[in-house]
Amino acid sequence: MNLLHIDSSILGDHSVSRQISAAAVAALRAATPGLKVTYRDLDATPAPHQSGALMAARATPAETRTAAQARDVADADAILEDFLAADVVVIGVPMYNFGIPSQLKSWIDHLAVAGRTFSYSAAGVQGLAGGKRVILASSRGGFYGADSPAAGLQHQESYLRGFLGFIGVTDIEVIGAEGVNVSPDLKQSATDAAVAQAGGLSAIRQAA
Ligand SMILES: Cc1cc2nc3c(=O)[nH]c(=O)nc-3n(C[C@H](O)[C@H](O)[C@H](O)COP(=O)(O)O)c2cc1C
Repeated sequence: MNLLHIDSSILGDHSVSRQISAAAVAALRAATPGLKVTYRDLDATPAPHQSGALMAARATPAETRTAAQARDVADADAILEDFLAADVVVIGVPMYNFGIPSQLKSWIDHLAVAGRTFSYSAAGVQGLAGGKRVILASSRGGFYGADSPAAGLQHQESYLRGFLGFIGVTDIEVIGAEGVNVSPDLKQSATDAAVAQAGGLSAIRQAA
């Protein structure tokens, strides 16, 4: 079984989502002998942006690419392959400016590949990346529940659910801490509860 662990917080050791994702991965690792874990910290090692430069690199024959072009193409390709190879994906995802960190968006931009993760047909879009379990380790400064006044500004979890659904991933669990910037006490209690929930993940299971 392969587990892909992604972190995207810019707050390093102060990050809440990193604590939650680490607890989830530790629990799953302890419960699953032989689990292969691949880790990427998108703040320390950012994914290359989709850009004109990257498109030009792809259009350049491999043998004439510069070292930087070759590195970026290989990195972008590896992001897709690592995702496709994973049975379980744990994503640390803070809410930044009502959405996901740009670091995570750059990574996701390499997953939407026609013919690999989705296809268009006469019947509409078909997701090709199903059979995978995704755990979102989420953290937010405020409250965005369905009954909160800010619910309409929640473009973090909803974006990820929408994107993952588009590529066929339907087995999505969210373990989250909300209101962590409201007060130190609330930050501590919300973090503790989410870390405990993540630590309770008992075993790798096949995606639903
Ligand atoms: C750049 C930045 C933007 C943020 N934007 C929001 C926001 O729009 N809404 C919110 O509720 N909290 C916001 N926050 C607070 C974070 O969601 C909160 O600190 C959360 O714990 C971040 O996750 P992390 O600790 O894993 O980085 C922001 C924090 C940062 C650093």
